[in-house]
Amino acid sequence: MATQKELLELADLFIQNEETLAEFYLACQDLFPSYREQFLDLAKQEEGHARIFAQVKAAIQEKPGAFSPGRFFPQTLQVMIAGIRQKIGELRERKLNSNYALTYMMDTENSLLEGEIAKAFQTEDNQVRELLDTVQRATAAHRETLRAILLQERK
Ligand SMILES: [Fe+2]
Repeated sequence: MATQKELLELADLFIQNEETLAEFYLACQDLFPSYREQFLDLAKQEEGHARIFAQVKAAIQEKPGAFSPGRFFPQTLQVMIAGIRQKIGELRERKLNSNYALTYMMDTENSLLEGEIAKAFQTEDNQVRELLDTVQRATAAHRETLRAILLQERK
């Protein structure tokens, strides 16, 4: 069984993952001036997800016994976060071409992690499950937003 410390570490990584995604979308604003609003909106949504995972973390602190780790290992999240941070660096140094940045983001939103983010934790706590489902639904919507931008850009 996972200790409370392990569960909290996992929650922190999910928070960081969402914050890093928000940062990536903010950095995209300069690369795609015609889609500033869309990227700002995506960034705000990811910030919202970070706050949701902070709520999940608070629930774990309150009743750790009601939670167990879901489908993902901390290492998976660490690799993911490191990858996004590297891409943010490349974006800021203007080393990333716009089509590549978009497809990279599509791949990220399509990844196993984002695709099954509702399985971040196992819990019988209905309120938390509802929160995780909210994040899951938003991730699906992000893919649609990105796909629309990608199609538009390729015209
Ligand atoms: Fe998200």
